[in-house]
Amino acid sequence: MKNKVKSIGILTTGGDAPGMNTAIRAAVRMALHHKIKVWGIERGWYGLINGLFVEMDSRSVSGIINKGGTILYTRRCPEFHDKKERAKAFKELQHRNIDALVVIGGNGSLSAAGVFSNEFNLPINVIPASIDNDIPCTDYTIGYDTAVNTALDSIDKIRDTATSHERLFVVQVMGRENGFIALDVALASGAEAVLIPEKKYSLNVLVKTIKRGQAKGKESFIIVAAEGAGDINHITNYLSKELNIEVRLSILGHVQRGGSPTAFSRELACKMGGAAVELLLKGKAGLLIGVHSDRVKPCRINQVLKTKKRIDSEQLRLTSILSS
Ligand code: F6P
Repeated sequence: MKNKVKSIGILTTGGDAPGMNTAIRAAVRMALHHKIKVWGIERGWYGLINGLFVEMDSRSVSGIINKGGTILYTRRCPEFHDKKERAKAFKELQHRNIDALVVIGGNGSLSAAGVFSNEFNLPINVIPASIDNDIPCTDYTIGYDTAVNTALDSIDKIRDTATSHERLFVVQVMGRENGFIALDVALASGAEAVLIPEKKYSLNVLVKTIKRGQAKGKESFIIVAAEGAGDINHITNYLSKELNIEVRLSILGHVQRGGSPTAFSRELACKMGGAAVELLLKGKAGLLIGVHSDRVKPCRINQVLKTKKRIDSEQLRLTSILSS
């Protein structure tokens, strides 16, 4: 194995995602297995700029494989857009002889890693971790499956009360400007409709769909709305005004970011964490550690940044047919 890297830093950045801890554990243990020194950088890019480094050993990642959140903490860091701050961050790495980075985070982290790596010729591999699943060139991001299952569990519960009270519930799920969580959760929960930012919809048509359902004897409804799909209060009020049914709004919010990672999120995190480190040791950097059909498939960060992940619009049709 070609091995110029002697010491690596690991950080988590952006919104936390269940399985980040599992990925930290995998990267730390894989590095130690190859006798590489490992530094944890606390609070993401902010910690890199401000010298928040802790040396990691095998015991420092004990007991975290099943824990939500991130033991390294995370933070949004607008300062990292500033070249001077990035130069400070690079000095902190040089000061400790850290030759390479493993960055665990979402879309924003990926762009930041791309810029930082190009600017200082620093080997960086990025592990995609975000509940939003909006990163191209990987089938899944760490944490997405957990968030979908958390939202699904809540919607199943909401369904019980919706049925008992013969009500319509609008349930808002996270996902920023993307509808991946909403689409999967809607199909799996049997929702009567789903609103996502990627697909134009008309509230008028939605009203007609609900009325058609009522004419067929349906007494309760679930509408899943992605947070990027429009003003949720306006949507709820409109439905309430136009329909002859009690309407309630439930915003699931940050509960979707927490909890113990599912087996699938953990499995991804173990595979990606190990691969991120071993690729760095082989001299392969500047990569997003994606997965495709259950196998690790690295992709150049520059390429990922030029690509847009598309939703599967067939799933909208399927959701609507199956819930009719
Ligand atoms: O990117 C993950 C995410 O949870 C999005 O789904 C959501 O829009 C955003 O982060 C919320 O961010 P914050 O916790 O900073 O309010």
